[in-house]
Amino acid sequence: MIKKEPDKKTIEKIILLYNQKNYLEAINFSSKILKEYPDSILVNNISGVIHTELKNYILAKKIFIKVVSLSPKYNDGYYNLANIYNKLGEEDKAIENYKKVIDIDQNYYKAYNNLGNIFRKKNLNKKALEYYILTIKINPNYVRAFYNLAGVLQHFILDEKNKYINKFFLYLLEKKIIVRPSAIATNVINGLFLNTNLKDSFSLIKNKNYPKNLNKIIELLNENKLLLQFMKVCPIPNYYFEKNFIKIRNEILNQIYNLNFKKIYLNFLISLSAQCFLNEYVYFETDEEKFKVNMINERIKNNINSKEINDLEILILSCYSPLFSFDWCKKINPSNELKETFILQYRNYNEEKKHIQKIKSIKEINDSVSIKVKNQYEENPYPRWTNLGLSIEPKVIKEVISDINLDLDLKKIKFSKNTEILIAGCGTGQHAITTASKYKNAEIFALDLSFNSLAYAKRKAEELNCQNINFIQGDLLDLRKLDKKFDIIESVGVLHHMDDPLAGWKSLTDCLKKDALMLIGLYSEKARENIANIREKINSSKIKTTQKNIINFRKDIFDNPNTKWDSIKYSPDFYSTSGVRDLLFHIKEHRFTIPKIEKYMKDLNIKFLGFEDTYVIKKFKEVYDENNDIYNLNKWEEYEKNNPRIFSGMYQFWCKKI
Ligand SMILES: C[S@@+](CC[C@H](N)C(=O)[O-])C[C@H]1O[C@@H](n2cnc3c(N)ncnc32)[C@H](O)[C@@H]1O
Repeated sequence: MIKKEPDKKTIEKIILLYNQKNYLEAINFSSKILKEYPDSILVNNISGVIHTELKNYILAKKIFIKVVSLSPKYNDGYYNLANIYNKLGEEDKAIENYKKVIDIDQNYYKAYNNLGNIFRKKNLNKKALEYYILTIKINPNYVRAFYNLAGVLQHFILDEKNKYINKFFLYLLEKKIIVRPSAIATNVINGLFLNTNLKDSFSLIKNKNYPKNLNKIIELLNENKLLLQFMKVCPIPNYYFEKNFIKIRNEILNQIYNLNFKKIYLNFLISLSAQCFLNEYVYFETDEEKFKVNMINERIKNNINSKEINDLEILILSCYSPLFSFDWCKKINPSNELKETFILQYRNYNEEKKHIQKIKSIKEINDSVSIKVKNQYEENPYPRWTNLGLSIEPKVIKEVISDINLDLDLKKIKFSKNTEILIAGCGTGQHAITTASKYKNAEIFALDLSFNSLAYAKRKAEELNCQNINFIQGDLLDLRKLDKKFDIIESVGVLHHMDDPLAGWKSLTDCLKKDALMLIGLYSEKARENIANIREKINSSKIKTTQKNIINFRKDIFDNPNTKWDSIKYSPDFYSTSGVRDLLFHIKEHRFTIPKIEKYMKDLNIKFLGFEDTYVIKKFKEVYDENNDIYNLNKWEEYEKNNPRIFSGMYQFWCKKI
């Protein structure tokens, strides 16, 4: 009888060559074997996979069609065929074949995941969500599906009950590197309202029994694990939460002031304290609260040696001021219950102070605006973040750039082996750490004016075991002094805070290697129209930038709804002190239009290569679908005119020297 499949050893040899990425040899060898075994399902299938790697998609498609016709029950064959259809943009055929995979094997989780990806591409977000949830239910360890789930949750509004979703939100908020909590915050809030009894719990605060029913309310909130975790990872951008938290904080303060120490307060206070610390104590407090906080502080000071301090006394104070601001803190040996709060509000602060000693400076800052900007970010490093979304696996520079789809002939570009990347104005490190996770064999240089921001960034980089970042303090105007050139320079949300953004941009351009690329982020005049009006009001009313004024300004906006400033309440930055300062009280802000950016690029002799934000590009393509439209700034200008909020996340674009 004619054997259909070669022996195990032969198959293993092809697989080994494939795993070693020795694709050409693998193809040659499998072609030889196929001469003898033309109908071998395994060898055909592997050779299809290798041709896929070599981007010979048409040939791979032909091979996989043969594989499934030879073996109509072979799920891997349908899966590979579906992947090829997907790559070739034949999405409906891809869907058909993924569904065949699932018909054969209902637990083939990658097929569900990839179906989710296709539905997401087709803007069928609800359906995509459904498929990602199915993927995770089959394989809860498939992290890629959580990344995808997080991605889809950023661009659609959850408006239906879903019994699974809160469990996944909790998972996403507990993980340090899958997603920025602020990116999914709106849907976490929706998930809390739709799928938990949070509204009922909060409505008890309006009840005539309040505050007698406080314990009942706290019990209910303590059961809401998602809420407690959410409070620990990002300033919650919603006034309804803030209003209720302020009332509860006030009432627990009263209880603790009266020595009424209820153990049930503990868990809720740990979360509330983290929330207040993260929002940098932006909540309004009354004089009576200030008085009681002071009295408890005195009580602790007096009892510090007698150990008669209750954990709740410390916790409630940490809801009004950070622990590091209390002198007695260093004498406290925190109980297990207090450890988390001590790490957040005391140990981290001391660690950052130590980092500052070791951060190298380029030179003293001279520029008068840079000095003022530095002072702002020394007082309020921005943003104060906890978790973020990192790349699943780093790629070499060429692969990363080819994924962005820029107006660039990659074949003509020579990248150096060891990629050197500058993040100019790295702030508290989100940007630098995210970039560091994308590139293989890269060394990152992260520059900022503010020591306190850099120290925050350095502590977080260590926490996430990110070792390839050098943090440097200095003004990007003085970059020449570093005597270094870079393959990539990224500067997002920085140049528009300089006295002369063009001078800043020139300083960056001068530090590019030949063929190097630049990612720039600039405020849009159109998207910030409302913000510009509020800034004008702040300036004309000569409101000084103090914590107290920021708090009062917010209170004014909340107490007088439906004014023309009202929409500012929807900005997540409105929910933390450094955010409000960055958003409305910044000492320097320029705003740009597309023609203004074009003029700057002409002056600098650089070329526009394309925008960064895939969501923005996707929206644009719904209107302009010619291939090269995405590189046409006139079309973008037209698009922005009709969609004035499209660049609310800044103009973020790539460019390079001509
Ligand atoms: C709005 S924050 C953005 C931080 C970061 N790029 C991000 O996206 O998270 C602006 C940062 O730019 C820094 N910055 C502003 N002007 C600068 C300059 N001339 N040189 C270096 N850093 C500067 C500030 O200190 C601040 O940390």
